[in-house]
Amino acid sequence: MFADKDISKFNNIETPFYYYDTNLLQKTLRTCADAAAAYKFHIHYALKANFNQVLLDQIKEIGFGADCVSAGEVRKAVEIGFDRKKIVFAGVGKSDKEINEALDLDIFCFNVESIQELEVLNELAVKKGKTAQVAIRINPNVDAHTHHNITTGLDENKFGINSWDLPECAETLKASPNLKFIGIHFHIGSQITNLDVYKNLCVRVNEFAKWFEDKGFTLKVLNVGGGLGINYYEPDHQIPDFESYFKIFNEFLDVKPDQEVHFELGRALVGQSASLITRVLYIKNGKKKNFVVLDAGMTELMRPALYQAYHKIENLTRGAGNSTKYDIVGPICESTDCFGKEVEQPESFRGDIFAIRSAGAYGEVMASKYNLRDAIRSVYSNEI
Ligand code: LLP
Repeated sequence: MFADKDISKFNNIETPFYYYDTNLLQKTLRTCADAAAAYKFHIHYALKANFNQVLLDQIKEIGFGADCVSAGEVRKAVEIGFDRKKIVFAGVGKSDKEINEALDLDIFCFNVESIQELEVLNELAVKKGKTAQVAIRINPNVDAHTHHNITTGLDENKFGINSWDLPECAETLKASPNLKFIGIHFHIGSQITNLDVYKNLCVRVNEFAKWFEDKGFTLKVLNVGGGLGINYYEPDHQIPDFESYFKIFNEFLDVKPDQEVHFELGRALVGQSASLITRVLYIKNGKKKNFVVLDAGMTELMRPALYQAYHKIENLTRGAGNSTKYDIVGPICESTDCFGKEVEQPESFRGDIFAIRSAGAYGEVMASKYNLRDAIRSVYSNEI
């Protein structure tokens, strides 16, 4: 379901802005929490998808943990009041400064992505007289069948420790007195809508878990990452819901009685909760093309320019109707500043309000100042 589209309330608000439907967010969080609770699965929210404070407050309230990829995100999670025992710090390039800060904040776990990082983390923990809990991020070489720019679990990707390095990794763990090895971690990509991909992941997780257990290690945590997609095409297309997603892991993952299964979901929790609301500045009718020039561009929502990502575009002023094909573009001085080409829309006019849907994940947080644009604002459904 997209964020609500009652436009009367948008008419007097200066555009562009992100409009957050906090009721829809609440509903999504509840559905996910209930579906996960049925299997006693643990959910960590991936802050990178959106670290907007209003959203984070709701997410913390529902009881989820936080999956962070920088000291800034760890700090933010602590400030918001996420339980420190539910904060994990992941990322392929954690600096010494960031590691030290996370050690000081006594977070739950570091998801470690290389053998050298294990050594550095141990050294820094020794200096502080602390013990750091670690999970090893393993690259399982499972194809996520998603856009190549958001695939992370193949041998060619920079993420995680490769299977052939695991013997050395096990030795390093044994030789690191200030590290407590608690589990294994995976994340194979984002916007995954084919559940078979997750079945394949489960098979690999089982193999790696057995490998470690055969070596005498006890794994308390199996962290299978995130990546569940959302439906950018509503009402067309069908994609898996939380229930069928968790069911796959319940069926195919070998979970020991004392083990916890952790998830790191971002997009699926917040993606549908926001639309980018923008006004038509100009209509340009060319010989070959008609353009709608909006007051929002790639600086506000970068996904189409960066990944050729599809976002549904609706003219809220004119409602339904597909009479004209337009290229829907922004004001930025780049040809890739385009939200959609040859998009069918009702005939549009200067001042019309457009919604660019499904912009709650990797939208506001990826905004940039390019062209020295004004910072993008946010408006919340419970405030207007
Ligand atoms: N865990 C790890 C280790 C990750 O790298 C990510 C996302 C997640 C969890 C959350 O994944 P999600 O559930 O949101 O798919 N900017 C791109 C997406 C990049 C995803 C990066 N990692 C986009 O706009 O599509």
